[in-house]
Amino acid sequence: MEARYLRLESAATDIVINTHPFAEIIYWGPHLHHFTAEDAQSLIRPVANGRLDVDSPVTLMAECGHGLFGSPGLEGHRNGEDGSPIFTTVEVAQEGQTLTLISEDRLAGLRLTSELRLDACGVLQIRHGLTNLAASDWQVNRLAVTLPIAEYARDVMAFHGRWIREFQPHRVTLEHDSFVIENRRGRTSHEHFPALMTGSRNFSESQGSVWGVHLGWSGNHRLRAEVKTDGRRYIQAEALYLPGEMAISAGETLWTPWLYASHSTQGLNGMSQQFHRFLRANVIHFVQDKPRPVHLNTWEGIYFNHQPAYIMKMAEEAAALGVERFIIDDGWFKGRNDDFAALGDWYLDEKKYPDGLRPVIEHVKGLGMEFGIWVEPEMVSPNSDLYRAHPEWVLALDDYPQLLGRHQLVLNITLPEAFDYLLERLSWLLGEHDIDYVKWDMNRELVQPGHGRRAIADAQTRAFYRLLDTLHSRFPHIEFESCSAGGGRIDYEVLSRCHRFWASDSNDALERNVIQRGMSYFFPPEVMGAHIGNRYCHATYRQHSIEFRGLTALFGHLGLELDPVSADAREREGYRHYATLYKQWRQVIHSGTQWRIDMPDSTTLAQGIVSQDQRQALYIVSQLAMPDYSLMAPLRVLGLDAQARYRITLLDHPNIRITDEGGHTMRQLPAWMTTPQIVSGEWLMQAGLSLPVLDPESAILIGFERV
Ligand code: GLA
Repeated sequence: MEARYLRLESAATDIVINTHPFAEIIYWGPHLHHFTAEDAQSLIRPVANGRLDVDSPVTLMAECGHGLFGSPGLEGHRNGEDGSPIFTTVEVAQEGQTLTLISEDRLAGLRLTSELRLDACGVLQIRHGLTNLAASDWQVNRLAVTLPIAEYARDVMAFHGRWIREFQPHRVTLEHDSFVIENRRGRTSHEHFPALMTGSRNFSESQGSVWGVHLGWSGNHRLRAEVKTDGRRYIQAEALYLPGEMAISAGETLWTPWLYASHSTQGLNGMSQQFHRFLRANVIHFVQDKPRPVHLNTWEGIYFNHQPAYIMKMAEEAAALGVERFIIDDGWFKGRNDDFAALGDWYLDEKKYPDGLRPVIEHVKGLGMEFGIWVEPEMVSPNSDLYRAHPEWVLALDDYPQLLGRHQLVLNITLPEAFDYLLERLSWLLGEHDIDYVKWDMNRELVQPGHGRRAIADAQTRAFYRLLDTLHSRFPHIEFESCSAGGGRIDYEVLSRCHRFWASDSNDALERNVIQRGMSYFFPPEVMGAHIGNRYCHATYRQHSIEFRGLTALFGHLGLELDPVSADAREREGYRHYATLYKQWRQVIHSGTQWRIDMPDSTTLAQGIVSQDQRQALYIVSQLAMPDYSLMAPLRVLGLDAQARYRITLLDHPNIRITDEGGHTMRQLPAWMTTPQIVSGEWLMQAGLSLPVLDPESAILIGFERV
C-alpha cells in the first residue's frame, strides 16, 4: 500500500495528512521529533451514538457527502445536478516539503488538485484547483480551502476597519457555530482584511498557541472559523463569487487563491515572525537590493495645486532634508483640478506643465533623488474625455443606475479595448519619462461589478493583476506602491507585484500607532509606508509634536507628506532629524525580527526590532492616552542574546519632563536614563527595563548595543 500518512515538516511546524481514501489533515502543530505513520493510528476516531453510523472526516475539500453538516468547501452544480461531490484520492506526490494530491469524483465529473507547500519558515501555502471533467459547465458558487485546527483554539482574532482607520484588532471567544468575515467591496478592503487568527484562550503577543491564516487575494472573499457540533474546529477561506459569475467549462480548472498559514506556540510574535521571514524569502522582491529610500509625497502638501516652479522648490527643500525619492501625487494629468473630473485622461495637463514633466523630473534627479508619480488606472470620472468617448467601458450591469464613489466610476478592464488603452497610456507615461516609482491608487469600491447582465468582480481583479504584470515586464526597473484610499488593497497577492503599501490616508500619529501595529501582524516594516504628516493632521485635525510623528513613522518605510517649503524651522529640523535617525536604523528595522510587547496598560504600545545577529535592537514605547497606572511596567526587551550584555542608549525622548520643569508626571527619571548602564540580555528579557512615565501622545526610543 502507498504511504497513507504523509508529513510536511519544518523546524517549527509539521502537518500530517491522511491521504487515503480521502485526504484529511489530521495534525497541524509544533514540529514532531519522533513521528511514524504508526503514531497516526492513535487518532482514529470512535463513532458517536445518535449520529451517523460512520466516521465523518473533515477532508481537504470538506465535502457534505461525508456527513460534515458544517460549511462545505465546495458548492455548485451542473445545471442543477452533480452538486454534492465526494473526492477520492487517485494520486499523491510528495517532493520535499511540497505535496500534490489529486482526487476525483467520476460521478460528478470533477477533479480536485490540492497543493500544499510548507516553507522552512513554517508557513504553509495551500490551494485547490477544481477541474471540470465533463462536457457541460459546472457552476461554481463556492470553492474554499479548509484547514482543521486544534480543539483548544477557542479564541479568534480578526481586524475590522474603515477608511483612515485600518487594521483594528478585535477578538471573540468562539464556542459554537461560526465567525465569518465576508467582503463584497471588490478590493481587499479596509473593512475586512482577509486574515484570521485563532488560538488557545487569551493568546497574546508572546504567549499561547496561535494559528493565523491570510488569503492572498485582492477581491471579494470569505473567511470562516467554525466549530462543529462534535467540537472539531476548522478555518475556511475562499474568493467570494457573486451569483453566476464563476463557471468552469469542459477541461477548465479554477484555482483558489493561495492561503498562507502559520502556526506558533510563541503567541502572535511567533506567528508574525514566521510570516515576515516567509515574505522576505519568497514574496517581496525589491527592484534593487538597496535601502528603502526616504520619500516625500506631495499630496498633503499641495493637493491638486501643481505649479512646476513651486514643486521644484519643494524638491530642493526635500533634498536638503535628506529625502531620497520625490513623488508627485494626484493632480498632474489633464483637467485634474479637483476630484470631480479627469480620471481616465492620462495625458499631461499642459496648462499646469507647459514645458512638460521632464524639467521637473530632471530637477529632482539633479538633486540626487528618485522620481515617482501617482496614477489611478482602474477608474474613470464621468466628467472626462475618456468617459465621453467610451461610456460603454464602465464596469456596470446594463441599465442599472450607477452609484458614484469619490465622484468616480470604475472602468471594465476585462474589456480588451479598455485594457489596451490603459496599457498604452501607462507605457507612454513610464516609457517616455525617467520614472522610478509609481503609486497605484484605487479609490472606490465596486458596486454591481458587471458586463452586460453578468457579474465580473473576479475577472476584474484578475485583469488588474494582468495589467500590473504586463507593466512589470515592460518596466522591470520601476517600483510600485499599492494604495487604495490608504489601506484598501493590502494582501500577499498584490505584494508579489508591488514594493510598498500605503497603510492609511491617516497620518495622525495616534491613529497610526494602532493601524501600523495591526498591519505588523502580517507585514514586515519595510513594505509599510509611514509618513510624517503636517502638524495638524489632515484626516483628524489633531495636532501632534514632530517628535511623536517622527518616531511613529520610524518603524516602517519612512516618508514626509507635507510641504517642506512652507513648514517652519522647528518642523523642518524635526523632518531632518527623523530622516537621519531612520537612515541610521533602517537596515535593522527592515531586516530584523519584530517583537510586539504585552503591556499591562492598554494605553501603552511597545515594540522592538532586533537585528538578525542580535547585536543591535531598537525599541519604541508609545503612550497613547493618560496611563492607567502611576508607574509604567518594566519593558521586557525580547529577542536579545541571553548570553550577551547590552549598552542601553536613550535615542529619542521628546518632551520628557520632571516636576521641576512643570507640572509633569515624574519627580525622577529611571536611573538608566541619567547614568549609563550595561545590562545582560537575559536580565533585560526576563526582568526588564524601567520606563519613565510618559505623557499621552508621546513616545520614547531606546537602543541596545551588544558590548
Ligand atoms: C487617495 C490616496 C491618497 C492620495 C489621494 C489622491 O486618497 O490614498 O494618498 O493619493 O488619493 O487623490
